[in-house]
Formats: sequence, structure tokens, C-alpha cells
Amino acid sequence: MIKIVLLGGGNVAHHLATKFISTEGIELVQIYNRTLSNILKFSDNVAITNNLKELKEADLYIISISDNEISTLSSKLNIPNKLIVHTSGSMNLSELNSISRKGVFYPLQSFSKDTKIDFSEVPFCLETENDEDFKLLQKITNKMGSSSYKIDSEQREKLHVAAVFVNNFVNHLYTLGNEICDENNIPFDILKPLINETSNKLADLHPCKAQTGPAKRGDTKTIENHLKILSKNKQEIYTLLTKSIANSYGKKL
Ligand SMILES: NC(=O)c1ccc[n+]([C@@H]2O[C@H](COP(=O)([O-])OP(=O)(O)OC[C@H]3O[C@@H](n4cnc5c(N)ncnc54)[C@H](OP(=O)(O)O)[C@@H]3O)[C@@H](O)[C@H]2O)c1
Repeated sequence: MIKIVLLGGGNVAHHLATKFISTEGIELVQIYNRTLSNILKFSDNVAITNNLKELKEADLYIISISDNEISTLSSKLNIPNKLIVHTSGSMNLSELNSISRKGVFYPLQSFSKDTKIDFSEVPFCLETENDEDFKLLQKITNKMGSSSYKIDSEQREKLHVAAVFVNNFVNHLYTLGNEICDENNIPFDILKPLINETSNKLADLHPCKAQTGPAKRGDTKTIENHLKILSKNKQEIYTLLTKSIANSYGKKL
């Protein structure tokens, strides 16, 4: 049985706690959070506390709190000879200010308390200071049905930027597309099969091969027509992305 203490009561901690409670071979022995009321819902299944001096004995301590606070909280933990990890995509391993062994247990997915998460769709980026600790984290992700990758802090920083491109930026483009639909009384739902097909294609195709559209074809007449009907902000974004796509495929516009 792998014993875990979870520190945090936000989006990620909420989903990790729910998963750990229902996973065989894992015992979530305690949840700590600054605000006790935010973890009260787990109190029937797990010991909860808001006092760091009351932390229980475990094999692994997972800190899943705001990035800014990881260093301060970890420096307050007086737990020698244990593995302490954080769940941040952008913080270095060294952000953990601890007397214990350090690691990273970063789930590369978007978590909100009220949205369901399927952990078989969550890849974990793992980093530790030694092989034995790595094996422990890998064992946990296996029990959760998740995949895992060995990613060091430098790679994780780059991966986080890549995630901003494929998640945050793409989602912003959905918002702009939705605006164009709203302005012209077109239901956004009509674009959803296209959105799904574009991401589903990536299961079998390199994104570079999956690209279609006027910029890839070099269809300058269509591009000019599109630019005429866009507002200034959307024109700038359209032009920037069109140039980037055209450059990737050696097209002159
Ligand atoms: N959300 C995601 O999609 C996602 C995905 C992957 C990784 N992560 C990483 O996971 C970690 C947690 O993210 P989250 O989205 O779950 O955060 P969140 O929902 O915003 O929750 C923040 C947590 O930090 C605690 N906290 C804030 N300020 C604190 C302070 N001064 N002292 C002690 N605790 C403090 C909060 O405690 P209170 O309840 O007392 O306010 C709460 O437990 C972050 O490192 C984040 O980068 C997030």
C-alpha cells in the first residue's frame, strides 16, 4: 500500500484526492489545506487538517497549491527522508525548499473542480532526484491508469509553452470564431464537428500533414476577402497566422 499525504484543496488536489480514494493499492492518509472548509467534503473518507504540525506519516507528500506558494509551504515542512513533489508545469524541481527528497508529479491536463476527469487521459510528467523515487511515482500513475513520461525541469518549461500554443491559444481562436458566428447569427454548434475532426486527425497524422486552408494552398484571393470582413484585432491575428502557415509550406503570399 502506497501512503500519500496531499497538500492543497484546489482544482488539481480535488481530482487527485477523488482518484486516490478510489484507487486500489493507494491510501490517501490525509489532506492538508490552508482553508479547511475547501476540503471538508473529503472528511468522511480521509483525515483532513489545516495544521502543518499535524501531518501524518506517508511515503509521498504531494504539494498541489498555487505556484507562488510552493517554495514557502515546502520550507515549512519538517519531514526528513521522504519524497516531496509538486504538481506544477512551470516551476523547477528546485522550487521545493525542502530537507527531503524532491520530485515533480505534473499532470498535463486542464483541471476544474466541477468538470469530470478521466485519468486514463492524463499523462503525468515525472521528475525525481533518484531512480527509486521515480519508480514510486511511476507505480502510482500505473495504479491510476495514467501514462507517465520522464521530463526534467528544463523540458517541462518548454512543454508548458507548447501547451499554451495547443490549448490556451487554440481555445482563444475558438472564442474569436464564436464571436464571428454570433455577429452573423450563425450557431457556433455548426463548427463543432470540424473542431472535433481537426483534433481527432492528430491521432494518426503529424500536425504538419493535417494542415489545410487558404494559407497552405496560397489562395491569396480568399485571404484578401477574409481580411476585408474582419475587425482590426482579428485581421492582425489572421495575418500573423497566415504568414506563419505560408512560411511553413514555402508559399509566397
Ligand atoms: N488547474 C490546472 O489545470 C492545473 C493543471 C496542471 C497543474 N496545475 C498545477 O497544480 C497546482 C495547483 O493548481 P490548482 O489549479 O489546483 O490551484 P487552485 O485551484 O487555484 O488552488 C490553489 C490552492 O493553493 C492554495 N493556496 C493559495 N495561496 C496559498 C497560500 N498563501 N498558502 C497556502 N496555500 C495557498 C489554496 O488554498 P485555499 O483553499 O486555502 O485558498 C488552494 O489549495 C499549481 O502548481 C498548478 O500550476 C494546475
